Amino acid sequence: MVSRVIPVAPFDLVLFGATGDLARRKILPALFHRFQIGQFGNDCRIIGTSRTELSGEEFRSQTAEAIRDFGQDVETTAEEIAEFTQLLDYVAVDARGTGGWDQINEKLREDAVRAFYLSVGPSLFPDIARRLSETGIATPESRIVLEKPFGHDLASAQELNAALRAHFQEKQIYRIDHYLGKETVQNLMALRFANSLFEPLWNSSHIDHVQITVAESIGVEGRGEYYDKSGAMRDMVQNHLMQLLCLTAMEPPARFTPNAVRDEKVKVIEALRPVPQTSIARGQYRGRSDGGAGDGYRDHAGNPASRTESYIALKAEVANWRWAGTPFYLRTGKRLRERVSEIAVFFRDPPHNIFEGSGPVHGNVLVIRLQPDEGITLRTTIKDPGPGGMRLTGANLDMTFAEELPESGRPQDAYERLIMDVIRGNQTLFMRGDEVEAAWAWADPIIAGWEEGGEAPQPYDSGSAGPDDSLLLIHRDGRRWRGIGS
Ligand code: BG6
Repeated sequence: MVSRVIPVAPFDLVLFGATGDLARRKILPALFHRFQIGQFGNDCRIIGTSRTELSGEEFRSQTAEAIRDFGQDVETTAEEIAEFTQLLDYVAVDARGTGGWDQINEKLREDAVRAFYLSVGPSLFPDIARRLSETGIATPESRIVLEKPFGHDLASAQELNAALRAHFQEKQIYRIDHYLGKETVQNLMALRFANSLFEPLWNSSHIDHVQITVAESIGVEGRGEYYDKSGAMRDMVQNHLMQLLCLTAMEPPARFTPNAVRDEKVKVIEALRPVPQTSIARGQYRGRSDGGAGDGYRDHAGNPASRTESYIALKAEVANWRWAGTPFYLRTGKRLRERVSEIAVFFRDPPHNIFEGSGPVHGNVLVIRLQPDEGITLRTTIKDPGPGGMRLTGANLDMTFAEELPESGRPQDAYERLIMDVIRGNQTLFMRGDEVEAAWAWADPIIAGWEEGGEAPQPYDSGSAGPDDSLLLIHRDGRRWRGIGS
């Protein structure tokens, strides 16, 4: 079974911030791969824009270089890259002024899907949205795509939403959270709602707790200035971990349609209890022992007194009928032992153990692995094989998607799916305005709590599993974190 490629309609995609890091690393290589695979052809155009003066030829050759640098997980020929770059054009645009907009307008076609991708800082969203509308470049069918961060608190997110809605309808607005484009994240919905096995058990009567982990081995090198104003809570928890929590906890929507899915996610966020500071552990990494001086978070952030967290763990509680009494422990951090992202659902122990004296009954744990090795593992208790009476041992039922479905080809990068969904006009995997605001409304008091308290995050060693406080956070409840790496 080779995965089917359904071509999308001809489009004109205007990419703001086309010379930026995200465009080079992710967006342009993702577009190239979709072209290479035949999802769109020579009737599509990609118009790069930024403040920098560049010729079309210079932009094409920079893009070819970006694909060679960042898009090489697939075998690629120079001819394919050259064919793709023929779709590219470039216009220098002053996002806050008048220069360049007429040229963009002239390049757009009446009968193609129009998408405006803002891979720029959020402070530019309102100006660009206004210009697109006032110049008539944006039509009522056009789509506008916004990269994160979508604000840095509730008030700024509300302002951004108001500025966008002055010119675009909600059905035209695509707020990106690239975690929603990850294959396993969508698989979580398939697992829950396309199988009858799990859903009857998916509640606090059967599930003891859930652990959501996004551990990264890299630090903030090169992005310290942005990151130091943000920290792990704003950079990861308010968006990516929140999305994972929502998809794990939400009620089954009646249909797999954008608003039905997003309605259910909003209900989860609105059911979250405020998190007391005692249910939070914050950390900041020190340098690696072999990294020498200058290798810790504060060096990378360029701020020797920084109190920004590069690690956070917290206990979230969804106060509704399904989840009362089942906590969701979230943790994420930089410079941890390994890169691991997973959702681990811990089922309750059997109500009665008939095997007393035969070894422990291992509680079932369903692990949904996002990266690396996307797949699903179910920990079970079985009989230790062989004669010698009834002895119990733990064993995993393990499914790695790449092994199970080798014909489906290389895993798609999240951006490939998300950009094609924009062209198809499918908003299911994008955050709705009220969803983002609800997530900030939950996060703001948490952040305010430690800002008022003025406490510095606890230092942890680079390459470790995080600060000691995070262990206490879960040990206090008589539970343990799953290991990060070996
Ligand atoms: C980004 C964050 O949104 O997600 C980064 O700003 C983080 O700090 C990244 O490293 C993680 O994404 P992924 O896909 O590598 O898990």
